[in-house]
Amino acid sequence: MRIAVVTGASSGLGREYISIINRRETDIDEIWAIARRRERLLEIKASSRIPVREMTLDLTDKESILAVSEALLREKPDVVLLINAAGFGKIGEFADMDVSESERMIELNCRAAVSMTRVCLPYMKAGARIMEVCSTAGFQPFQTLTVYAASKAFLYRFSRALRVELFSRRIKVTAVCPYWIKDTEFIPTAKDTSGGGREVRHFPLSSRVKGVAAVSYNDSRLGLAVSTPGPVCFVHRIVAKFVPSELMMGLWALLRRI
Ligand SMILES: NC(=O)c1ccc[n+]([C@@H]2O[C@H](COP(=O)([O-])OP(=O)(O)OC[C@H]3O[C@@H](n4cnc5c(N)ncnc54)[C@H](OP(=O)(O)O)[C@@H]3O)[C@@H](O)[C@H]2O)c1
Repeated sequence: MRIAVVTGASSGLGREYISIINRRETDIDEIWAIARRRERLLEIKASSRIPVREMTLDLTDKESILAVSEALLREKPDVVLLINAAGFGKIGEFADMDVSESERMIELNCRAAVSMTRVCLPYMKAGARIMEVCSTAGFQPFQTLTVYAASKAFLYRFSRALRVELFSRRIKVTAVCPYWIKDTEFIPTAKDTSGGGREVRHFPLSSRVKGVAAVSYNDSRLGLAVSTPGPVCFVHRIVAKFVPSELMMGLWALLRRI
């Protein structure tokens, strides 16, 4: 059985990737869709051409990784695609944020993505693909997105190095690094922060989920190491390589007040 595993499947990018898989893939037998909201997963299952196995799991809980690992061991599928899209951010000053918010960001954006990748890897063969959904926030430090940006920098570095390790096995790893996307649940969740949320006023030039998912999915098929699905993240990636972080954070201090 050839399967695609998609985390963060109940909304936003994850949900859109499932639509793309349905439209474009002819040799995938099942999609394993992972998120916490079961009713959303059942909706997706009902409208999917490819059979969906809904897995209602909170990936910040280590037991959930164990549950995926056990399901893989039972079924011994061929994992042809893994998309780690589950993730969230919080806007606000670090000192104002609940310790649990910071911890959960690290648990989901870093630990869960790494563990999901690790448990799926033994079931991946040559030609398989991994998409780690990072963010343009991973290209530099960002005050008021401090933990989120650091968590995405971690995932970005992990993804880049893993790609080199898996090169000889012909498994492609792509770090997907979008700019703000306005039509997912990410921004409302990010603004709903204990003691913060208002530090970023507007999200100028923000992108749309369909475009981001389509471009990044193509980039993964092409085997690119990094996908910057939009003009802002593309330019940001280049500029952040040459301009010192202190200056970039100074620019951000201005931009976030616009
Ligand atoms: N939107 C943006 O501006 C933006 C920009 C750059 C990068 N990104 C990244 O893109 C990815 C997808 O975000 P999105 O924009 O599609 O946001 P979204 O609509 O909020 O989707 C996030 C997904 O993650 C799932 N999730 C959250 N907590 C979870 C948990 N503890 N266990 C399992 N699943 C969990 C959510 O499902 P449940 O609530 O049902 O669990 C949901 O399906 C994230 O990694 C985000 O960091 C987003």
